[in-house]
Amino acid sequence: MTDLEFAALSACIHKLTKIDLGCYKPQQMRRRLDNFVASQGMPVRSYFALLERDPRVLDKLRGFLTINVSEFFRDADQFDILRSHVLSDLVGQTPSINVWSAGCSIGAEPYTVAIMLNELTPKASHRILGTDLDSQALATARAGGPYSAADIRNVNKAMAMKYFTMVDGQWWIKESIREKVQFRQQNLLTDRFEQGFDLILCRNVVIYFSEETKATLNEKFSRALKTDGWLFIGGAEGLFHAAEQGFERRFASLYQKRAAPMRSAA
Ligand SMILES: C[S@@+](CC[C@H](N)C(=O)[O-])C[C@H]1O[C@@H](n2cnc3c(N)ncnc32)[C@H](O)[C@@H]1O
Repeated sequence: MTDLEFAALSACIHKLTKIDLGCYKPQQMRRRLDNFVASQGMPVRSYFALLERDPRVLDKLRGFLTINVSEFFRDADQFDILRSHVLSDLVGQTPSINVWSAGCSIGAEPYTVAIMLNELTPKASHRILGTDLDSQALATARAGGPYSAADIRNVNKAMAMKYFTMVDGQWWIKESIREKVQFRQQNLLTDRFEQGFDLILCRNVVIYFSEETKATLNEKFSRALKTDGWLFIGGAEGLFHAAEQGFERRFASLYQKRAAPMRSAA
């Protein structure tokens, strides 16, 4: 793809999906898009024309850009730390915990939190919000499935029986958990954030974002948390300017808000 074609494709993607490629690591995004467009088996110009005309082609590109791979209890050891060091304390301090799974994909992550909170406090009514850019992933999340055996491979047998129903080889989350999570479409790069969360999970979402975009996002997460609230990030991720963003690193993937961020978030 030439520079001109890349610029035209970026503009077209922004117009059709509101995804701003300028917020992503430029070389990586360029390489990924080059490979993706080449794999579509047509000249770049024909691909542009099809993108404008065929919603299925646009959906495929959106899916490629957002990558919504997820699973229940993804990185199970980190969820163990979340349970023993964060959730068990929070349930003692707050009768109704306010949780946000940002970039929740098919819902496995917010439902994992709902299951854990249900185990800790079966009678309490907590608030769990899941948001994502991808409407197809959100449709699966809202429906509570279907999930594959691979999606629930970290769920032990007893928990699978308690919280899922199997129909024709596919798994669905039970209504008692489904009703505990609300879902909403949201673009983390452009939309406003709610405030007052005790815990925000943003895991495996920012991997292709530029450092500047990540810094702005972390400052916005910091503002959206209550003081002493928690940010739970992916196992391969880190906050390089945690203190400036108002966070203290407490465990491998868990940061606690200590103060307001130093510069104002966009
Ligand atoms: C790899 S999945 C991670 C899902 C889950 N957090 C996990 O760790 O299993 C990344 C998700 O981030 C979402 N995403 C990417 N960019 C986004 C944006 N700008 N706003 C909201 N969601 C976004 C994608 O649609 C995708 O569902």
